[in-house]
Amino acid sequence: MEQASNLLIVLGIVQVARKLDLENPDVLVYVRLGYLFTQTIILVVCFYLATKIKAKNDTTTLKYVEPPKPFTNEPEKPIETNNRDYDLSKVQELLKQTLIGVAFMCVLHFYWNFTQPLFIQSLLPLKNLYSNQVVKIHLFGKPAEGDLKRPFKVNSSFGQFFQQPQTDKASIKKAIKASRSGGKKDD
Ligand SMILES: *[C@@H]1O[C@H](CO)[C@@H](O)[C@H](O)[C@H]1NC(C)=O
Ligand SMILES: *[C@@H]1O[C@H](CO)[C@@H](O)[C@H](O)[C@H]1NC(C)=O
Ligand SMILES: *[C@@H]1O[C@H](CO)[C@@H](O)[C@H](O)[C@H]1NC(C)=O
Repeated sequence: MEQASNLLIVLGIVQVARKLDLENPDVLVYVRLGYLFTQTIILVVCFYLATKIKAKNDTTTLKYVEPPKPFTNEPEKPIETNNRDYDLSKVQELLKQTLIGVAFMCVLHFYWNFTQPLFIQSLLPLKNLYSNQVVKIHLFGKPAEGDLKRPFKVNSSFGQFFQQPQTDKASIKKAIKASRSGGKKDD
């Protein structure tokens, strides 16, 4: 669903972008400023969230099993953390994604002269920011339950390749056992 709506939004933005004269230096200035503006908003939100999460200091224990990354042979990983660290790790993920995106966009735009992606990435990340679970909890003050219950579900159009994190006791026990026997091999 989420990915389908993103795709529709991208197609819509591309249609608008085609109407814009992106070669025109005046238009280009606005597109660049728009991109910078969006990335700055995301960075500011990241720092705000990190500050808020630390201030809240919710150290409620959170245990779950992290499924293996798709297309890898890694074993499942038992994770024991707390709400504060979990949320901070999600903010860090967003921050990292954004910085990598900016680096990639610099190459795309300044080296290969693409401008359309710049335009798309001025708008799409705002929607993704809005649907980010940590943003919903700490910026919009939504309760961390239902769709926002930690650990967060993975949303993807490749959903069938992504297993969801598991929180039942049996799975956690099994993963801890497996990781212990796996750990011995590494020693
Ligand atoms: C957060 O809470 C933990 C225990 O609940 C405490 O040990 C720690 O000092 C607190 N940290 C801050 C920054 O308040
Ligand atoms: C990008 O545009 C600049 C200026 O318009 C031009 O000099 C350069 O050759 C272009 N680079 C590519 C890879 O098309
Ligand atoms: C994940 O998908 C569900 C159902 O499609 C949706 O309600 C939820 O907002 C999505 N969450 C994120 C973070 O995209």
